[in-house]
Amino acid sequence: MTSPITGLNQEQRLHIDNHLDDGYFDRALRSDVLAGLTKTPKQLPPKWFYDDRGSDLFDQITRLTEYYPTEAERSILRTHAGDIAAASGADTLVELGSGTADKTRVLLDALSKTGQLARFVPFDVSEGILRSSSAELLDEYPDLTISGVVGDFENHLREIPLAGAKLTALLGGTVGNFDPEARRAFLADIVAGMKPGDSFLLGTDLVKDIDRLELAYDDPYGITAEFNKNVLHVLNARVGANFVVDDFEHYAKFDTENEWIDIRLKSLVAQEVRLEELDLDISFAEGEFLHTEISSKFRREGIAAEVAEVGLELTEWWTDENDDYALSLSVLK
Ligand code: SAH
Ligand code: TRP
Repeated sequence: MTSPITGLNQEQRLHIDNHLDDGYFDRALRSDVLAGLTKTPKQLPPKWFYDDRGSDLFDQITRLTEYYPTEAERSILRTHAGDIAAASGADTLVELGSGTADKTRVLLDALSKTGQLARFVPFDVSEGILRSSSAELLDEYPDLTISGVVGDFENHLREIPLAGAKLTALLGGTVGNFDPEARRAFLADIVAGMKPGDSFLLGTDLVKDIDRLELAYDDPYGITAEFNKNVLHVLNARVGANFVVDDFEHYAKFDTENEWIDIRLKSLVAQEVRLEELDLDISFAEGEFLHTEISSKFRREGIAAEVAEVGLELTEWWTDENDDYALSLSVLK
């Protein structure tokens, strides 16, 4: 379909740059696996959850009532998308870790209503989800040009195309998946790609009742458990590992001191695992943990201080009606 406004056809409106060609992907995965599984405690970075199956499982998580952040964030977006469009004046929306870009449509609608929207830049480590979400958006928004980036946002932020007035969004509580030190570096990297006057939209889950927090990360249907264990399937497929996935159990507990959900896999038995392509044998003691993710929960003062530290000014702080979740808008001074 050719856009009546831009005169461009779908092919001209979509450009996807892949910085995770098989060579890069395999090298990065191997080095993360080697470093992570040989340290104590054992640890793997969360980006390797998200192959096609992992992205699909995460999408299922977002539809669970137990996992309240998605609907809370959507409701804040519905109420304030117009404010965000007006305050940012953006013609380009960059979304880091865009996934299915489902909630993003609320923002795209608001930006296109004012006629200001020109380009969407989804950025994700998962090529499959980036391609399928982009194809849907091209159909839904006939005037939109999409410049997608398949990459690792800890390494490839510089690949984001230069733009006019830019709004950079990091939704879904993804910022909470970094440890505090990495989070500071990541926020500084994001800001390095912004111009004065550009805006930053950040979705953060808030500290709350422990039972609700833990239920959101350990649902009774076992979907979150399956998602967590998916990293073992990825290792079996990509580095020739022989993890017996059912010999591991999902673990998700709130760490009250650090105010984050600590997500791990627990080895149910003493076992040896072979990672053929790394020529590596790893042993797990019975009950030993493999750390896979943290999901930090925030407070307003903390976020205001963290964005200020990288030169942003927090201009808006919106929460949903239950005060479960916050969306904040900051501007680069
Ligand atoms: N924004 C969506 C998805 C959040 S889940 C939402 O709000 O529901 C986190 C997303 O970030 C996934 O789509 C995952 O593939 C992506 N992701 C995780 N680590 C990444 C990394 N290092 N670089 C780029 N994308 C990453
Ligand atoms: N960004 C999501 C969050 O912190 C990621 C997530 C949701 C997740 N559920 C999970 C990660 C379960 C690991 C396990 O809420």
